[in-house]
Amino acid sequence: MSHEAQTCAGLIREANAIAVLTGAGISTNAGIPDFRGPKGLYITKKYDPDTVFDINAFYRDPEPFYAFARDFIELEKTIKPTFTHSFLSKLEESGKLKGNITQNIDALHQKAGSKNVLEMHGSFWTSRCVDCGKMYTYEKLKDHLITSPNVPCCDCQGTIKPDIVFFGENVKYFEESIQLAASVDLFFVIGTSCVVFPAAMIPSYVTGKIVVVNLSEVRLNASNVSLAVQDDIDRFFKEVAGYLEKENNEK
Ligand code: OAD
Ligand code: ZN
Repeated sequence: MSHEAQTCAGLIREANAIAVLTGAGISTNAGIPDFRGPKGLYITKKYDPDTVFDINAFYRDPEPFYAFARDFIELEKTIKPTFTHSFLSKLEESGKLKGNITQNIDALHQKAGSKNVLEMHGSFWTSRCVDCGKMYTYEKLKDHLITSPNVPCCDCQGTIKPDIVFFGENVKYFEESIQLAASVDLFFVIGTSCVVFPAAMIPSYVTGKIVVVNLSEVRLNASNVSLAVQDDIDRFFKEVAGYLEKENNEK
């Protein structure tokens, strides 16, 4: 077992309050591609993220986004949280983990049972008409996409847009995320390249210890990184969980 996992288990044991910032890397083992990893969307070009998630491109032509959205609703039916999503949910249930800040729109934190999830980049669970603002549920959007090949339209003929944050739009829960990051003594940065702002700024508000877990190197603008682990997220947290269980059994 690795020294890093043992150190991480020790940091969790000693911490009073923990929070996390997660990115697409936490969901790759669930079968959802990330953006900048070796099989990420910027490499495979399955969708062009700069077109699909750009708000001006959406206003010009929402079709490319809806090609992605149709695939997403199919995927959403089957995807399951990873070991690490469940590990974080249990840590929240134990009272130590105070909240999850996520850039992901896959809702896997909630599916794993996490309660306090700050979705900085929004989600698919509600949508709105870009003209009159009328709100639509995920079920309504899904029904439309399953039964019609057209871009979903409101009663007023305006285009319907899910409440996910596109490039060119403001992120959600920014103040709440800063407050959460500043209030804990241990902060995890998990599966994010930390290059998309302002989410990438969140670790700079942490005054406690920071632990980074990511396959590739992450450069944070923070001097309080206690541990930087370059490993598969689930492999690493399984080991951490093993140490925590061992300690509990020895009590
Ligand atoms: P990225 O794709 O930029 O970063 C994901 C990171 O996770 C990469 O550095 C991978 O090496 C790492 N990774 C992938 N799988 C892993 C695994 N199993 N174990 C360990 N590490 C793994 O994704 P984000 O940082 O989330 O925004 O991207 C941020 C934002 O950029 C997204 O929310 C999205 C995108 O454009 C919008 O669409 C607005
Ligand atoms: Zn409308």
